[in-house]
Formats: sequence, C-alpha cells, structure tokens
Amino acid sequence: MSGRFAGKVAVVTGAGRNIGRAQALLFAREGARVVVNDLGGGPNGDESGDAGIAQQVVDEIVAAGGEAMAEGSSVASMDGGAAIVAKAVDTWGRIDILVNNAGIVRAGRIDQLTEQDWDLVLDVSLKGSFATIRAAAPVFIAQKGGVIVNTGSTSGYGHYGMSNYSAAKEGVAGLTRTVARDLGEFGVRCNMIRPISAQTTTRTEGVMWTIERSRALGQTFNWNRPLALRRTMPMPESVAALAVWLCSDAAAHVSGRDFFVQGDEIGVFPEPELHRAIFAADGFTLDALDAPGVADYLVGDIVNRFLPGAR
Ligand SMILES: NC(=O)c1ccc[n+]([C@@H]2O[C@H](COP(=O)([O-])OP(=O)(O)OC[C@H]3O[C@@H](n4cnc5c(N)ncnc54)[C@H](O)[C@@H]3O)[C@@H](O)[C@H]2O)c1
Repeated sequence: MSGRFAGKVAVVTGAGRNIGRAQALLFAREGARVVVNDLGGGPNGDESGDAGIAQQVVDEIVAAGGEAMAEGSSVASMDGGAAIVAKAVDTWGRIDILVNNAGIVRAGRIDQLTEQDWDLVLDVSLKGSFATIRAAAPVFIAQKGGVIVNTGSTSGYGHYGMSNYSAAKEGVAGLTRTVARDLGEFGVRCNMIRPISAQTTTRTEGVMWTIERSRALGQTFNWNRPLALRRTMPMPESVAALAVWLCSDAAAHVSGRDFFVQGDEIGVFPEPELHRAIFAADGFTLDALDAPGVADYLVGDIVNRFLPGAR
C-alpha cells in the first residue's frame, strides 16, 4: 500500500471509537498496518461497553483495502501493555508508532472522589501510557527509531471536579517530556497532544456539569483563555491529523513537545518556564518574603480567580 506510512506498523490504544478510531483509520489510509486496541469499556472505565468495537474499526479498514488487527487488552496493566505491543510485533514483525489514546473520566469534587475513581483514571491514562511505552521502548531502541504520541488534556491545567483526570493528564505531560529525553539518543520521538473533540463522545457528557459549575463560580476554565468549546464542531479527524502528522517524517525534528488541537485550531504550548524569580544569597526567610515590595513583585499581578471576593 502506498502512503506516508507504507511499510510501517502503528498501534493506537482506545481506538474503537471517536479520536482513537479516527487516528487508526488515518494511519491505515496512509498505508500503515494498524493494531486497533480497545477493550470496549464504558466512558467511566466500567465494563459495560461493547468489546466488538475494535473489530468494527478493523473491518472498516479492511473494507477500504487496508490492514489491521483488533486487540482487546486493557492498557491499565503491564501485561496489557505488553500484549498490545506484542500483537504488532508477533503479527507484522515490527512496531514503528505508538499512540497512547485510551483514557477515561470519573468526575467528582475532590471531597467526593473515591479511591476507585482515582485509581481507574490514573491506571488507564498514566500507567497505561507507561505500560505500552515500557513494552515498545526496547524494540524502538534496538531498531534505533520509533514514534510515540501521548494524549493529555487541557484539563491537566486544572479543571473543576476532575482532580484525578488532571493529575493523570499532567502526569502524561511529565512522562512525555522525560521519555523524549530518555530515548532521543536512539532516534525515538515522543510528543503529546491535548485534544478537544467535544460532543463526539459519551465521555464528554459526564463532564459537562463540571464546566457549567466552573462557569457559575466565575473561574477561568483550565487554561488562561476563555473556553471555546465548539459544540457543533466535533472533528476527531482534526485531532487525528495532528497526531498522525506528528508520527510522520515531516515531524522528524519534533520531540518532547506539547500540542493543543480542537476542530479548527492547532497550537503548541511553550516549554515550562519561570514567570518571575527573586534571589536571596543566603536563602530565604519569612521576613525576607514579607519585606516591602517583594511579594508584590513576585505575585502582585497574579489575579485570584478561585477564592471568594476574587479580584
Ligand atoms: N474528547 C475530548 O474532547 C477530549 C478532551 C481532552 C482529552 N481527551 C483525551 O483523548 C483521548 C480520547 O478521547 P475520546 O473522547 O475519543 O474518548 P472515548 O471515551 O470516546 O474513547 C476512548 C476509548 O478508550 C477505550 N478504553 C478505555 N479504557 C481502556 C483501557 N483500559 N484499555 C484500552 N482501551 C480503553 C474506550 O473503550 C474507548 O473506546 C482520551 O485519552 C481522552 O482523555 C479527549
């Protein structure tokens, strides 16, 4: 098959629907052989979904003349991650691309979240990304090449009622930056995307109340820009275009970077940097911090958006 990924093997986790499905279809359209992983779970990580959804995506790919295999393991265990990568290597003798897309949401204000809410969300998004990368990394190192795309969220920047999800997705950001450093010398790249593909997913329905509550409280929503959720513009294909492009040779120089994509917009977040700094040759004391002008210089322009009486 011809295309940008002819001869390549791609693995996409959580590819049975929505964003992951669009990514799998695009890889296949561009000539890659694709492992379509999905356990067919419900949006909250329960088992109420349809285990056949990965096979349906495979059927679509095959009907269009492509090559794909369904894989039903959960990413949330080391064994699952190993099985997903092994499916590619055992079937086609290689893996070139790994897209960690699987993710779930269990929303609740921090005082109401359960240990299970915490563990399930962290296990799928964060440990799940580690599990597949851990399995693929030795192959990538041995073949001196490979590409990883991880999936974060702007909710990682803070999102009312989603502390578990925020923690998982910012964990993905740290994982991404460090894997890029760990594997760069072997020609392996690792980037992340923070997608919004609203209203394409039942998952999103479970979080609309958190957005409404955030608005009612007058908070800024996850990052310092008015929320522009385009309800009528789901476009998982736009998200897929960015993720798949990042895996292509056109992005051969891009690693350790953090992208945003929704419908009609793609952006890139800056490398983390200090906003402002103060120095004390002998170390800081409370008196030094209380000295006139010091706190004003450091945080005087930081607007309180969360406490009563916000200015
Ligand atoms: N949709 C959005 O607006 C949005 C916003 C920010 C981030 N994201 C992230 O993008 C990714 C895809 O989002 P989506 O809206 O397509 O989600 P989705 O819920 O529609 O699809 C996710 C898929 O992952 C599968 N999955 C869940 N747990 C799994 C596991 N343990 N192992 C294997 N597969 C599993 C599910 O069965 C499902 O088919 C997720 O990581 C999500 O957190 C989405």
